[in-house]
Amino acid sequence: MRLTTVRSRRRTHRCDTNRIAETDEQMDTDRPDPTESFQHQPVMLDEVIEALSDVPAGLILDATLGGAGHAAALLEALPDCTLVGLDRDIDAIAAAGRRLSVFGDRAVLHHSDFGDLSLALDRVGTRQISAFLFDLGVSSPQLDRLDRGFSYRDAGPLDMRMDQTRSRTASEVVNGYSESVLADLLYRNSDERYARRIAEAIVAARPVTDTAELADLVRSAIPAPARRTGGHPAKRTFQAIRIEVNSELEQLAVGLDAAIRHLRPGGRGVVISYHSGEDRLVKVRFDSAVTGGCKCPPQLPCGCGARPEAVALRRRALRPGAAEVERNPRAASARLRILERA
Ligand SMILES: C[S@@+](CC[C@H](N)C(=O)[O-])C[C@H]1O[C@@H](n2cnc3c(N)ncnc32)[C@H](O)[C@@H]1O
Repeated sequence: MRLTTVRSRRRTHRCDTNRIAETDEQMDTDRPDPTESFQHQPVMLDEVIEALSDVPAGLILDATLGGAGHAAALLEALPDCTLVGLDRDIDAIAAAGRRLSVFGDRAVLHHSDFGDLSLALDRVGTRQISAFLFDLGVSSPQLDRLDRGFSYRDAGPLDMRMDQTRSRTASEVVNGYSESVLADLLYRNSDERYARRIAEAIVAARPVTDTAELADLVRSAIPAPARRTGGHPAKRTFQAIRIEVNSELEQLAVGLDAAIRHLRPGGRGVVISYHSGEDRLVKVRFDSAVTGGCKCPPQLPCGCGARPEAVALRRRALRPGAAEVERNPRAASARLRILERA
């Protein structure tokens, strides 16, 4: 298996997973290797395999490798295909590298944002793909490891970076953004009803030092009756800040358009999203590929000359079955959309 990185010049060499971990200056060599126990259950795995089972032979793009659960199953199910896998998290790349090593040269991994996926494809020498998968959101290790700062359940640093080599952290957002910008992003990224009250509480308490303090502030800013419904009161605020720290929606818009453009005729794309903001964006992008941008009234023949690029294989998003949600509660909010290149 080959491993390269797109973003960082200091890691453009081909190397094995251990070397990536060793050479990155963000890695603390004294702590236990966090990639050893990278556990993530792939969501809607059967549905993903079924959706991509008869794509033309060629290259599959896994834009969000994580622990490579989907990638390994795809390589097994599609022996005529090779795979290029991306992740912006160096721990995920190292863990995926170990897991996919049994597939030898059939898998090439890049430490890269999927916003740069065209660059990653250039590096494997093709711009045509037979299938793509975006399994959005965070991996279980990102959520579970307190030092990553994604969790509202215990005290951790205000970090939330998926890519440990980037400089913007949650602390910069929480302690640096103006109250109105903070309120807007809480509302925009998570539909948080109490965005203004939460932003006011955060600004009044600055400097906020860790995730536990942030979660307490959010809880106290939300009226008591509203706290009793809809899960943990800090869930939406943490999600909104994480989306901002990692520019998630901007990345998704750019990456998805590029992936659709690179699909070969008959190729298919699957996106699994986990909150309404993501799913709205995926739906808009898929609709635009399906209509080719045509806005003519549906009851009249198209007069604008738009050319559809793709067909949506289902009108509605697929949801995970009850058995899967019981087995893996983190799958509960998943919505899967499929598109086929015309
Ligand atoms: C839900 S996990 C994927 C799990 C994976 N499908 C599996 O089977 O283990 C999402 C992964 O996408 C990565 N990710 C999120 N946004 C990304 C982006 N813009 N570019 C590259 N990777 C991204 C995260 O770091 C995380 O590892």
